[in-house]
Amino acid sequence: FTPTGLVVAVDGPGGSGKSTVSREIARRLGLRYLDTGAMYRAITQVALERRIDIEDPSAVAEVAERTVLTVGTDPDRPSIAVDGDNVDEQIRTRAVTNAVSAVAAVSAVRSRLVAQQREIIAESLAAGGIVVEGRDIGSVVAPDAPVKVFLTASTEVRALRRSRQLGEKGVDDVARTLAELDRRDALDSTRTADPLSVPDGAIVLDSSALSVPEVVDEVLRQSQHLLAAT
Ligand code: DC
Repeated sequence: FTPTGLVVAVDGPGGSGKSTVSREIARRLGLRYLDTGAMYRAITQVALERRIDIEDPSAVAEVAERTVLTVGTDPDRPSIAVDGDNVDEQIRTRAVTNAVSAVAAVSAVRSRLVAQQREIIAESLAAGGIVVEGRDIGSVVAPDAPVKVFLTASTEVRALRRSRQLGEKGVDDVARTLAELDRRDALDSTRTADPLSVPDGAIVLDSSALSVPEVVDEVLRQSQHLLAAT
């Protein structure tokens, strides 16, 4: 069956499996897919490239103000461009990953990106709907989303996944990634502007010991009654 106008909000910390799970839910339900983290990363990439002081909120806000992001929402090949130039690879570097929490803590950056995210969601509704992943989707960006998911995993599992994504092999690399992940989690969860939190009514799942299809099956099982109503 093809749902019409469905929004699925997927939140959780880094390495919880959000991206893989969100894309798979989008494929299974024939929905579009929006990675909001990529948008915060793209603004961070521009700020670093222009040697903006990442700890200066007004300088960072100005970058967000002047940058045009173009986001592709095909779950099979999501993409993001800055002023027309694709930055899919640049936004995944360690430098961007370690600076992005400071950028995402600036409320002027958030309000600008949230506005664009809501536009993308609105545009997708006619095409069936969208799976949106991030930190504040069920709480701020789309609080009326009928299906909300909060994905977690143990810190060790999340660090291993991140490390693998980065193509690392050594134990030291995993330890370093774990320390960076811990630091980023703390910043993302304690900032004043829309911190990471479990939204009301969310399906909370720990993916530590589950495969991607198992997580997706469980989300679809628990949201069957919600999906039937849309
Ligand atoms: O999911 P990710 O690792 O690509 O997200 C990058 C950063 O962006 C993360 O440290 C928190 C921030 N973020 C946010 O504040 N709000 C969102 N909706 C998505 C990401």
